[in-house]
Amino acid sequence: MHGKYHVRTTINGEAVEFLCEPRQSLLECLRDILGLTGSKEGCNDGNCGACTVILDGRIVNSCLVLGAEADGADITTIEGVARGSRLHPVQRAFLEQAALQCGVCTPGLIVAAKALLEAEAQPSEERIRFWLANNLCRCTGYDKIVRAVQQAAHEMQEVNR
Ligand code: FES
Ligand code: FES
Repeated sequence: MHGKYHVRTTINGEAVEFLCEPRQSLLECLRDILGLTGSKEGCNDGNCGACTVILDGRIVNSCLVLGAEADGADITTIEGVARGSRLHPVQRAFLEQAALQCGVCTPGLIVAAKALLEAEAQPSEERIRFWLANNLCRCTGYDKIVRAVQQAAHEMQEVNR
């Protein structure tokens, strides 16, 4: 039996501490220890993006990060994207464009798209498709997802004018 790591992080703006085993991924820690089940486990090997979170400003597959590596990090998960009951423009656009079906890919796509629009206000369609290339969707078809990101980009620009 290995000892446990004491991890101190900030998750969605709040200081969070937890104990995890050395082998546990950040995704397992989020879901199984902290009850943050919005991040999904699709493949658990870095190929689908369903587990995407923002870690110190970079999007990562949380199934490929050890929980222990999150010590000292600042993390945003899908649970931190809305402001109370106010959905983020990307979330609203996904609903309005019907850019989801089963929803397994949706949290990862929304987190990744939010990170894109915070880094680049007016990404081209090509850029959106490239940025989201790690986020696989088996149901919806990517056109609606891209349209949703374009809609959110437009709305966010209007608000910032
Ligand atoms: S569950 Fe992490 S990339 Fe698929
Ligand atoms: S909505 Fe089902 S995988 Fe994307």
